[in-house]
Amino acid sequence: MSNIGNYDKQVKNFTWEISEKELEYKKGDVINIGEYCSDRICRLGKGDKLALIWQGHSGDVKKYTFDRMRVLTNTIAQYLVDKEIKPGERVCLFMDKIPELYFGFLGILKMGGICQPLFSAFGGESLFTRLEDAETTAVLTQKKHLGKIRKIVQDLPHLKHIIVVDDEGRKPLREKECSFSMEKEKGIEHFDIYPATAETPSVLHYTSGTTGKPKGALHVHYSLVSQYMTAKYVLDFQEEDIYWCTADPGWVTGTSYGIIGPWSNGITQCVLDAGFRVESWYRFIRDHGITVWYSAPTAIRSLMKDGTAAAKKFNLSSLRHLCSVGEPLNSEAVIWSTKAYGLTFHDTFWQTETGSMMISNYPGMKIKPGSMGKPFPAVSATVVDLKTHEPIEKPGIVGLIAIKPGWPSMFRTYWNNEEVYKSKFINGWYICGDRASIDEEGYFWFVGRDDDVINTGGHLVGPFEVESALIEHEAIAESAVVGKPDPVNMEVVKAFITLNPGYEPTDMLELKIMNFIRKKLSPLAMPQEIEFMDKLPKTRSGKIMRRMLKAKEWGEEIGDTSTLEDE
Ligand code: PRX
Repeated sequence: MSNIGNYDKQVKNFTWEISEKELEYKKGDVINIGEYCSDRICRLGKGDKLALIWQGHSGDVKKYTFDRMRVLTNTIAQYLVDKEIKPGERVCLFMDKIPELYFGFLGILKMGGICQPLFSAFGGESLFTRLEDAETTAVLTQKKHLGKIRKIVQDLPHLKHIIVVDDEGRKPLREKECSFSMEKEKGIEHFDIYPATAETPSVLHYTSGTTGKPKGALHVHYSLVSQYMTAKYVLDFQEEDIYWCTADPGWVTGTSYGIIGPWSNGITQCVLDAGFRVESWYRFIRDHGITVWYSAPTAIRSLMKDGTAAAKKFNLSSLRHLCSVGEPLNSEAVIWSTKAYGLTFHDTFWQTETGSMMISNYPGMKIKPGSMGKPFPAVSATVVDLKTHEPIEKPGIVGLIAIKPGWPSMFRTYWNNEEVYKSKFINGWYICGDRASIDEEGYFWFVGRDDDVINTGGHLVGPFEVESALIEHEAIAESAVVGKPDPVNMEVVKAFITLNPGYEPTDMLELKIMNFIRKKLSPLAMPQEIEFMDKLPKTRSGKIMRRMLKAKEWGEEIGDTSTLEDE
């Protein structure tokens, strides 16, 4: 029997109070996610249970029990307090998927800091924009990433501490830098956990929009009430499960369901700190006996490329429940997984801003391949008219996905950007910015984003950020960036550029520009294709018409061009 049982019954009966009760939380109580994920699980008698099985790229494995994790997260928290980092200050995690990243997350929360996880693949500019916006006080990082921080630290007056977690005192450190080894430090048995309450800020996740700089979605400790229960019902955790979430904690999936969801449920999880390779992924599942697997469509499509034979080479019989998030999960992938693993991927839809799953396919519910499923019980979701923003009553009509505010893990603001935050709420609905329709049985069908943000391999890239970075290259006069269809990543970044006088469009220049963006922003934001143009299509007011360029890439009607400058 699954945890959720009968979905329709849950829709009638479930309230968030049920989750609060399971967590033994009452309004006004202290609620610290760091405590809930480690100390509380030990209090429940699971201190000796494995919390984390970690595997590095060279195959080395480290294992930590909940009790060891409790001590290590205390140790990190105490170190931050000793550094005089205050509750409410932003502490960034800029690391690969090493154990320090996971324990650092809980340690920061335990001392009341706001955790700001950033992908270690980010280049200097991506890192700088986010640290500057958040006025971040401290960064925990690895020595291999120190160089990127050193290049920008002089322009970040708020950044007081750069804490290198794997240096072991070898590298000569500079001003503001310090070396800290969580394993070598004297373990802290008792730490005074910061008495966070429901609305105390917890996590700041940056996400990209169509315009402007990336925005920091701010979450609070009360988000646990959603994350705990969605993990229990959708990922269907059972006591003996061995869980694998493939997401990096630089992305909200990697924190909500790669840290908080499993550990607040007292579940053992595995982390693989290595890039994607079909065989190593299957070997990882087999060797650790993974039972519940949460991944993303791009990874599933990459596995599909190797066919079912690759899957059959390994004994993957431990797997019992599969879920997916981040991009549309095409029906072919759902059908293929049934052939390859004898199990169906359950699609889930949510966002950085929602903090937890909003629309999902539940164990035991009929799956319609290609559909995102139905709203989580107690989440009120619908589609609203594209113009009036009134709920659409008729099935099959495309509108904007909208959610009634009030679920516990809703973001509370965009950091320093309350105005944009407010603009996301219309007619009493939170507007997700995605288009979908609902069928006569209440299933949601994703159609596409309602803006120009590019979703490449499940990761959002803001075209404006890439365009701004491109024009910093000496050869480039103007740029426009759009998503181009891709069979594996769904979309990849494509740039249209015009060159400054004296530059010729050559293959070499294209490569140089790609590399320039990869280093400055990230490998994901790097254009996979650059088209040199004599001029870019613009409106009469001089705005570049991305829409036209995008339509061309997708083979769609170009639409209304009446405001084009050449007409
Ligand atoms: O466009 C939707 C897409 O990813 C966006 C949210 O991205 P992010 O904030 O990075 O968080 C992703 C992980 C929770 C959404 O607005 N998206 C997410 N899940 C799905 C999806 N698109 C289609 N199907 C999904 N299941």
